[in-house]
Amino acid sequence: MPRGAEIVVRGAGVTYPGATVPTLQDLTLTIAPGEFLVVVGPSGCGKSTLLRTINRLIPLNAGSIAIDGIDIASLDPVALRRGIGYAIQAVGLFPHMRVGANVAIVPELLGWSRERIAARVDALLALVHLDPERYRDRFPRELSGGEAQRVGVARAIAGEPRVLLMDEPFGAVDAIVRSQLQDEMLLLVRELATTTLFVTHDVDEALLLADRIVVVNRGRIEQTGTPLEVLAGPASPFVERLFHANDAVIELREKARERQRLR
Ligand SMILES: Nc1ncnc2c1ncn2[C@@H]1O[C@H](COP(=O)(O)OP(=O)(O)OP(=O)(O)O)[C@@H](O)[C@H]1O
Ligand SMILES: [Mg+2]
Repeated sequence: MPRGAEIVVRGAGVTYPGATVPTLQDLTLTIAPGEFLVVVGPSGCGKSTLLRTINRLIPLNAGSIAIDGIDIASLDPVALRRGIGYAIQAVGLFPHMRVGANVAIVPELLGWSRERIAARVDALLALVHLDPERYRDRFPRELSGGEAQRVGVARAIAGEPRVLLMDEPFGAVDAIVRSQLQDEMLLLVRELATTTLFVTHDVDEALLLADRIVVVNRGRIEQTGTPLEVLAGPASPFVERLFHANDAVIELREKARERQRLR
């Protein structure tokens, strides 16, 4: 089983063509082999942009990214992407290809044997709670949104990548399926020891899954730390608000205090 890669981001910056302000600014971050790093932050802060710089869907305007010590700018982008699993909220399954064929794309490119590919496809479908017998030969249009998303996750890990990029991969599933997928995800990445960057809006999901959390705000890193560190010692009022925005207990306490004051 391949080990996860180390990713070193140094002073990374991205300014989209025509934009007046950078979307990512001076981002520096080391992700250890096998680490599960969760990126959180408000809509538009640059989370997806950061992920896409790592598989070179978006070029850097400043700084560098190295995977296992090799600057990705020196690699062939297609070969680079073959070694990086990528799952996105919009899923992006190929509509004319059956589920099994979608999952098999990277193993096919890697030249695995028929038998190995077939076994892998079935194992992955089972892993994301889709009965291979029932789902293998369906077309993407015959899936619900949540089922399609699970196929997207299966496809992303199919080639046993050493780096996994997941951009809100569980966005379209209900709470129960989401929590099942989160549990499976934890087991899976531990087993594969894949270095994972996982983007989510959901701070509970971040706290559950992360070895480390990176809080991004307006294209800059606001804080990096373990879930406990971020919860116990938020580096700024922004981080504090982000992690307690849905904290019903704190809200109730504040309301109670407010009532006391009004009396
Ligand atoms: N291809 C692009 N061209 C120009 N601007 C872009 C492009 N992609 C994203 N942006 C802009 O860059 C900023 C960051 O976008 P990005 O998609 O990285 O945010 P995000 O943190 O993933 O947000 P969300 O949580 O809503 O997915 C936004 O202001 C967005 O409008
Ligand atoms: Mg995004």
